Amino acid sequence: MGTVRRSVTAAIAATALVAGSAAGVVWAQGGDWKAPADAKATKNPLADKKTDKALLAEAKKLVETNCVTCHGADGKGTGPAASALPPPKPADWTSAKVKAETDGELFWKIANGRGAMPPWKHLPDNDRWKLVDYIRSLQK
Ligand code: HEC
Repeated sequence: MGTVRRSVTAAIAATALVAGSAAGVVWAQGGDWKAPADAKATKNPLADKKTDKALLAEAKKLVETNCVTCHGADGKGTGPAASALPPPKPADWTSAKVKAETDGELFWKIANGRGAMPPWKHLPDNDRWKLVDYIRSLQK
């Protein structure tokens, strides 16, 4: 299923790109992407599960379905759709920058998206916290 899903996601990303340029939309040009202070301070309810194997296995499935097209299986931002995207490129989840951000900030960014990064508000909060824990598990 992985391959089909991934190419569907890539096709959606490509369509969004074309629609974006046709409408004259200017994509966010990098620069600092900051979450609001209250979002940064939000506590991760799954903070004690960062090494929980079952939780990380569930999170990995979510990532394979929703994120690897852009962020890659290793989370370094070099998934198959990444080269087709304009800057800012998909974030490297293992970078010092992402490491330095709070769980709450990552949670908020995953919910809201920016530019080519889609908003994932439709995922349950619990799933988005799992994604945060998964990102942390790659930051060794
Ligand atoms: C269509 C491509 C695409 C997909 C799919 C995608 N992302 Fe992203 N993501 C991006 C791009 C591009 C950025 C950089 C956005 C920016 O800096 O303006 C980004 C940035 C991020 C960041 C912010 C890093 C930081 O701290 O600045 C996080 C966290 C993130 N993505 C997580 C996810 C997760 C989790 C998923 C899956 C649920 C996902 N992304 C799916 C393209 C994507």
